[in-house]
Amino acid sequence: MFFRLFALAFALLLCQATPAAAQKRPRPLKANESGSTFRSRFGNPERAADSLLRLMTLEERIGQLNLLTSDLDVTGASLRPQYRRDIEQGRVGAVFNAYGVDFVRKLQETAVKNSRLKIPLLFGYDVIHGHKTIFPMPLAMACSWDIGRIEAAQRIAAVEAASMGLDWTFAPMVDIARDPRWGRVMEGAGEDTYLGSLIAAAQVRGFQGRGIGDVLSVMACAKHYAAYGAAQAGRDYNTVDMSERVLRDVYLPPFKAATDAGAATFMTSFNELDGIPATANRFLLDQVLRKEWGFKGFVVTDYTAIMEMLFHGTAKDSAEAGMQAILAGTDMDMQSAIFIKFLPDLVRQGKVPEAAVNQAARRILIKKFELGLFDDPYRRLSPEREKANVLTPAHRLASREMAARSCVLLKNEREALPLKAGIKRLALIGPLANAAHDMIGGWSAAGEDKHSISLMAGLQNHPALKGVTFQLEKGIDVEKPEPADLPGIRKAVDAAQGADVIVLALGESKDMSAEASSRSNIKLPGSQEDLVAAMRARYPNTPIVAVLFNGRPLDLSDVLGNVDALLEAWYPGTEAGNGVADVLTGAYNPSGKLTMSFPRNLGQVPIFYNQKNTGRPENPKEKYTSKYLDVPNDPLFPFGFGLSYTKFSYGAPQLSATSMGMGDSLRVSVTVTNAGTRLGEEVVQLYVRDLVGSVTRPVKELKGFRKIRLAPGASEMVSFTLRAKDLAFYTAEMQFRAEPGTFRVMTGPNSADVQAAEFTLR
Ligand code: NOJ
Repeated sequence: MFFRLFALAFALLLCQATPAAAQKRPRPLKANESGSTFRSRFGNPERAADSLLRLMTLEERIGQLNLLTSDLDVTGASLRPQYRRDIEQGRVGAVFNAYGVDFVRKLQETAVKNSRLKIPLLFGYDVIHGHKTIFPMPLAMACSWDIGRIEAAQRIAAVEAASMGLDWTFAPMVDIARDPRWGRVMEGAGEDTYLGSLIAAAQVRGFQGRGIGDVLSVMACAKHYAAYGAAQAGRDYNTVDMSERVLRDVYLPPFKAATDAGAATFMTSFNELDGIPATANRFLLDQVLRKEWGFKGFVVTDYTAIMEMLFHGTAKDSAEAGMQAILAGTDMDMQSAIFIKFLPDLVRQGKVPEAAVNQAARRILIKKFELGLFDDPYRRLSPEREKANVLTPAHRLASREMAARSCVLLKNEREALPLKAGIKRLALIGPLANAAHDMIGGWSAAGEDKHSISLMAGLQNHPALKGVTFQLEKGIDVEKPEPADLPGIRKAVDAAQGADVIVLALGESKDMSAEASSRSNIKLPGSQEDLVAAMRARYPNTPIVAVLFNGRPLDLSDVLGNVDALLEAWYPGTEAGNGVADVLTGAYNPSGKLTMSFPRNLGQVPIFYNQKNTGRPENPKEKYTSKYLDVPNDPLFPFGFGLSYTKFSYGAPQLSATSMGMGDSLRVSVTVTNAGTRLGEEVVQLYVRDLVGSVTRPVKELKGFRKIRLAPGASEMVSFTLRAKDLAFYTAEMQFRAEPGTFRVMTGPNSADVQAAEFTLR
């Protein structure tokens, strides 16, 4: 009886609240309404969700589990008529690919005015590295090793997204990636678990800000759970097979870090893992995510992933696929519409317990309450905020600074960079010299190239290059193959005649990476290598600087010898040209370091610094050791590598003790000196090797880093603290703990160039 009354009171409250709110224009947010100070008038979201659930029919509850696309990108701001009817009938809980306050308002009104229970929709979108102000692609941002700035970048992304009506981003992508063929490496933080975990947490903090109740926050979605980055042969969506130990040691920690940082949602991955598609994987969703980690949010599938179980071959039909997904712990169905079609009958037939549906709907409704959508379904829909908060000069400046900090200087000889103050003629050549379109990268979703700055524009407008004459020539396309002697290359080479310096803008076009963009060849596409060679042949004495725009580590072996300087700029975002010009001119001294190894050739892939030693470690003098006949095992550029315009010298690591107990800590200190002539920043790195374990351990693992700034001649002692928990791993018994024994500590400017000391853990 009491229940009924409570439910009725709740229903009345909803009926009163929503039509009134619908008529009102959103009022400006008061300070005490945002962030963690936001208090819903429904009180505890769990209890509110429970009472609402009691009012809902089975279909309405299943409706909450249904996520559909609005087709914004394809058809403009419209919705298929069937979707509109579904919303009105309470058969849709969330919509994605719809943003902009006017459009979102229309959709929200459909739900709030026309559906029986007036439950607001949730609006999600792929806000991966910026919404309108596009930041460098995530792998590029990771190369800044600047956790604070990465968080700040995603805060800006959240402010813009929320100001355009979004509640939820499908980010961060926290997949560890060791295979540059995979097009989605651009979307993650690279190959390292420790760094990837810090970056995962920072992004969640950035997106969710002071709490998802803040009108300027969006819910984060850690994806793609799990092990999607280990697709066989680097081919997108391909099978994944790995030991539980590797899964737990290498691939899961960034997801755990996202959970600990409070990520509101998770997305399942497309791949299978140990024969079970992730979307129906009880081990991942129930055992690890919910039971071990205590995740309280909801899990959405990736796009049509439930339907794809038919192709995986683990479900005979859609109904069975839907049943497997919900029973494994998936809450929301993205775009398969299988839950909404089949769950009602599956429940009625007793194949799926009603409790499973209730639990999923409850998890989703709780987030809607926490977002404040029941207090005011239009609270993120303020035209004033949309106007004021998007593509602001401050956001663009942050993006420009990040673009400069994401660049990695891979080679710099004959002092080719920074560009000399006295240059009079600069030849800017190549397919990406004036390619604003490509600068924002393949996952820029709502980003528009009309706002982005090409390298040409950035250089031409840079104050440091005032008065310089530019000789511009595209020469060739990114991809179109052209023999070296054909006109495009000749034109490009001729155009550089008389230049003091030649800047080549090369790389991949933006659609060559991101989703469904794996490559079986990771060299510069088309005839770009020929262009570089022809340029070098004609101008042996003119400095040649190559600037690379691309989404993955490339095989640069045949480029390296033909250029004096090589700057990896990735896809730098809206402010690409300005940020890269800051680096080329020396207005910013580059400090980026690679977070994925660059192989010597594709045959070395997968290649990563934290490999195992094997029983026959590489020895060039001995035939029967683990190596190639044609190239050494090490990469062309190792993890952690990146040059500066100044030089840093490193002392040997000093340990506070040579042995430590399980409950103790140990300090590792290293003195770093700026031995060059410019102010610069350096990422000081700490690696550890566990020399003997109950299972084999990597030859080194990143355990700490510090980004420092040093004036010429200045030194700083950088200290790291190590505790037993930093040395823990999954032992032979699959227990996560450190084992006693000897550890090698290594410090240095990258993973290959290190000095070592040893200690024992008692
Ligand atoms: C598929 C992608 O794998 C995923 O990352 C993305 O969030 C969804 N599509 C929605 O666009």
